Amino acid sequence: MPQASVDLRSDTVTRPTPAMRKAMADAEVGDDVYGEDPTVNALEAAFAERVGKEAALYVPSGTMGNQLALRLLAQPATTVVAPERAHVVIYENGAGGRNAGVQFTSVDDSRGVIDADAVAWAIEAAHHHYPAVSLVCIENTHMPANGACWPLDELRRLRSVTEAARLPIHLDGARLFHAEVATGVPAATMAAEATTVMCCLSKGLAAPVGSMLAGPADVMAAARAERQRLGGGMRQAGIIAAAGLVALESMIDRLADDHVKARLLADAIAERWPDAGLDPAEVLTNVVTWRHPDPGAVLAHLAGEGVAAGTIAPGVLRVVTHVDVDDDGIERARKALATAP
Ligand SMILES: Cc1ncc(COP(=O)(O)O)c(C=O)c1O
Repeated sequence: MPQASVDLRSDTVTRPTPAMRKAMADAEVGDDVYGEDPTVNALEAAFAERVGKEAALYVPSGTMGNQLALRLLAQPATTVVAPERAHVVIYENGAGGRNAGVQFTSVDDSRGVIDADAVAWAIEAAHHHYPAVSLVCIENTHMPANGACWPLDELRRLRSVTEAARLPIHLDGARLFHAEVATGVPAATMAAEATTVMCCLSKGLAAPVGSMLAGPADVMAAARAERQRLGGGMRQAGIIAAAGLVALESMIDRLADDHVKARLLADAIAERWPDAGLDPAEVLTNVVTWRHPDPGAVLAHLAGEGVAAGTIAPGVLRVVTHVDVDDDGIERARKALATAP
C-alpha cells in the first residue's frame, strides 16, 4: 500500500509511538519464563490493578488470551455460550475446538450484547439432551456490532444467570478501554462481572505486540503454565512489555478522538448508502460496519483513492479508526466514500 494511504482496515495497523520506542530502548529486562523480567512484572501488576483482578498474564496475542480462558474455564466436550459473531467463535480459525475441545452455542448478538434469557435457555437445555454449558464468553466492545458497548445493567443481568448456574464468564475485552471511554463505566467495574478478562494492548492502544489476561490468582497461575504449553513463554519480553506500559498509561484517554472520527465515517457511509443497515447514532466507539452487495467494488474504489478498508463477512464492509489516522485522513476517506459505487 502506498505511504500516503489512509489505513482503516483495523486498529492493529498502528505503529509504536515515539514514547513507546524510547521505553522499549530503555527497558530493564530479565528472563520472563523465570518470572524475572521486571518490566513484564510491572505491566502485569499495573494491568491487574487497572481491571481490578488479583493477577494478570502478558500473552503474545488476544487470541492466546481467549484460548487460555477456554482451556482454563471450560471443560472438553461441553459447550461455550457466546455471541454468534464473537471473535472466539468466528475469527480464531476453529481454535476453541482444537485447543479446548469445546463446541460453541452461539446466540443472537444483533444488539451487540447477548440476552441473559438466551443464556439461561442454553443452560436449561442441557436438561433436554443439549450439551452441558461450562462457560459463557462475551465481547465488549462487540466488534461486529459496530463496536457496541455492554450496558452495565445487562452485564449484571447476565452475571446473575451465570452465578445461579455456577458458571464462569470470560470477557473478551480486546477493546475494553474503548468501552470505558465511551460509556464512562470503569474497566474494573465491567471486569468485576467476569471471572477472567482479556484486553489487547496492540488494538487501538498502539503497542506493537501483546495482550493481557487477568483473573483470580489461582486461575492466572494455571494460565502461566498453559501459556507455556502453547509455546507462549517469552524470554526478555520486557522489550515489548515496555510499550504496553506506555499504552496503559497514556493511550487510553485519547481513544475518544477515534470514536469521534468513527462517527464521522459512519455519517458519510449512512449518507452514501441509507439502506446499508447502519445507524450512525449506534457508533459509539471505533468500528463501523455496513452491508453492500459488492464489497469488492467498494474496496477497489477506496483503494484507488488511497483509502484501505476491509470486510468481516460476506457482504459486510468495515472501517476502524485509530491513532495513526488524522483529521485529513478522515476527510479523505469521507470523500472517497461519498463517490463509492
Ligand atoms: C474482539 C477481539 N478479540 C480478540 C482478538 C484477537 O486479538 P489478536 O489479533 O491479538 O489475536 C481480536 C482481534 O482483532 C478482536 O477484535
